[in-house]
Amino acid sequence: MIKGEELFADSKLEWMRDENVRPYVFVRPENRILEPGRLHRRLDWFPHPVIYKNPLEMDQVAFADRILHLETKAFGPSGMAMPRWVFYDCAVVPGFVAGFAARTSALPDDVKAALGADGSVEWTPLSLFIIIPTMSRDGEWVAHNLCSVNSILPKVRQYYGIGFISKAFGLWYANVRACCGMTQWTSPSVKLHSNYGDFEVLTAYTPVHSYARTVTYRLIVDAESWQGFFTKQDRKGFHDRYAPAGFDVNRVDDDSLIAFQRRLEADEGPFFLDPKEARLKALDAPLKIYRLK
Ligand SMILES: CC(C)(COP(=O)(O)OP(=O)(O)OC[C@H]1O[C@@H](n2cnc3c(N)ncnc32)[C@H](O)[C@@H]1OP(=O)(O)O)[C@@H](O)C(=O)NCCC(=O)NCCS
Repeated sequence: MIKGEELFADSKLEWMRDENVRPYVFVRPENRILEPGRLHRRLDWFPHPVIYKNPLEMDQVAFADRILHLETKAFGPSGMAMPRWVFYDCAVVPGFVAGFAARTSALPDDVKAALGADGSVEWTPLSLFIIIPTMSRDGEWVAHNLCSVNSILPKVRQYYGIGFISKAFGLWYANVRACCGMTQWTSPSVKLHSNYGDFEVLTAYTPVHSYARTVTYRLIVDAESWQGFFTKQDRKGFHDRYAPAGFDVNRVDDDSLIAFQRRLEADEGPFFLDPKEARLKALDAPLKIYRLK
């Protein structure tokens, strides 16, 4: 069993043991997962009772407003804030939102102000992870959105690890085996997304997206490796299974991204990232590309 106890005893992760912080799932009743955690049952990170909210209930709009307030503040600077109708049509109805929420009355005033907290709502979301099932025959999901309060709080108020743990919670909760997603190459989220299991690059240059420097990825979830995000050690067995493919990707150079994309389109892959390297390198540093041995 992979217990969270020892990991969450670290003072930076103490918030995971705070009774005023709980995981939430904002999901319509028909989409509720029947046996949360069944697939990743060796992981014991989430013993907390889950707060459920039903987006089809009119009175839950206040909770939805707080999710969207956080999302708009987190993504506003990159010009990718989600329109409200996209949240409803493309996220809430087909999938669900998961994350952590704090008891509003227990939040410091400056955090309440940053979150635009509504004193009449018992729980205020601190993070959100949206995941949607896809048409894939393999039961693949798509990670549509991830953001955390850390991106809008000063360091002293941050909930260290909440972005990583929120996605971990969603993957664990919904028994996700495989999941694709998309992000921009220099986003801090690359550090997170590459640390949930084998991380395959599906597109390196994506002009059909609003931002061509978007990476589309597939990850095969390995919950037993998740603590590596915090220990920053080599992923167990990574170098036994993968070898350098003989080239790097320069994340801030279109020519490099396009050359990588051409290799993918010529079926030279599959290609993968080393989670430790993505975790530790500067956001604009080149990354070594790997292939299966
Ligand atoms: C990207 C995001 C989800 C990360 O969540 P988070 O809660 O800040 O990150 P966590 O606390 O889980 O992870 C902590 C690690 O990530 C690193 N990190 C987080 N933001 C970073 C940044 N802007 N630059 C560099 N590293 C960053 C931290 O330094 C820390 O690493 P360390 O242990 O080496 O110090 C969050 O910053 C965010 O909401 N950003 C705005 C929205 C966004 O871009 N989302 C991603 C779209 S896919």
